[in-house]
Amino acid sequence: MALLKILHFPDSQLRIKAKQIEHVDAEIKLIIANMLETMYAAPGIGLAATQVDIHQQIIVIDVSDNKNEPLCLINPIILSADGQQSTEEGCLSVPGVFEQVERAEKITVQFLNRFGKQLTITADGMLAVCIQHEIDHLNGKLFVDRLSSLKRQRIRQKIVKQQRNND
Ligand code: NI
Repeated sequence: MALLKILHFPDSQLRIKAKQIEHVDAEIKLIIANMLETMYAAPGIGLAATQVDIHQQIIVIDVSDNKNEPLCLINPIILSADGQQSTEEGCLSVPGVFEQVERAEKITVQFLNRFGKQLTITADGMLAVCIQHEIDHLNGKLFVDRLSSLKRQRIRQKIVKQQRNND
């Protein structure tokens, strides 16, 4: 397995829309294993393939306390969304930034698991937030897009400055 490089906002690669996966083959399984390793190492609770410059519809998530409940969603589609919640979100592609974002409270999502089996789950709370955040990534959207343009501009400056200092 290998650690993958995580792209940072405002990298334009983060704006690419991910393609649907037709076959969950060995190559996809390897990508999933590498994404999980990268997410745990970061550490983070969710990672979309877009963030590691792979433009296919794959998400990995683990919101468990002991980091032993990996969830993989391929070609996820939100079938229904209800209610509203506001939580503080962060993102591995926007390091060091945490802001309140409004999302649906409860969602039902259909996807393929890592064995290519179609499943439907209903999630609420943190898991629902995480799935919505990661699906946004697959559509080329970031949580900062849901903030005011003034806030987004400040965050952009902060991240660009951080990157300059790291180079
Ligand atoms: Ni993110």
